[in-house]
Amino acid sequence: MITQFEEILFSEKEIRARVSELAVEITNDYQGKDPLLVCVLKGAVFFMADLVREITISCEMDFMAVSSYGSATDSSGVVRILKDLDANIEGRNVIIIEDIIDSGLTLSYLRKNLRARNPASVEVCSLLTKPSRRKVDIACKYVGFETPDVFVVGYGLDYMEQYRNLRFIAVLPEEEF
Ligand code: IMP
Ligand code: MG
Repeated sequence: MITQFEEILFSEKEIRARVSELAVEITNDYQGKDPLLVCVLKGAVFFMADLVREITISCEMDFMAVSSYGSATDSSGVVRILKDLDANIEGRNVIIIEDIIDSGLTLSYLRKNLRARNPASVEVCSLLTKPSRRKVDIACKYVGFETPDVFVVGYGLDYMEQYRNLRFIAVLPEEEF
């Protein structure tokens, strides 16, 4: 495991500032709607924790864990639910909190799955997006940052479960995988 990263894409300070901006947007858009923020484990865990503490309206949190079959760096779109929501989301305003949208396959499955439970609305808030890698079109209302087609780690994002605990987001050098 490497400890020095040559290319830091987003520093701790930049992440904090952007997360606050997203929280302001959500606070403004969801007045009186008591949104249910659904954190997709494990990658979005720090994003969720930081975001929710900057939101100043009433809201609730829930968690889902999914596994997408594929290699360490590519998802297949075949998604299995490892942990489902605790809450019944019928009539609720749901915001899916994701770490990164890459091909879009995981989120596309997840959104379809949640829509089938008759929520009032489902929106997506993703910390990162890699538009050049998209295989399915997916509308994402709130996006933190766009990233180029590189594999990134840190602030929740992993490579084979490593690097989630970095305070910043860095590019994993190609020789590492
Ligand atoms: P998708 O189904 O291809 O959109 O994949 C989404 C999931 O793949 C994310 O929730 C991440 O867990 C993982 N992923 C995609 N790109 C990266 C990356 O650059 N770093 C770490 N994880 C990634
Ligand atoms: Mg992952």
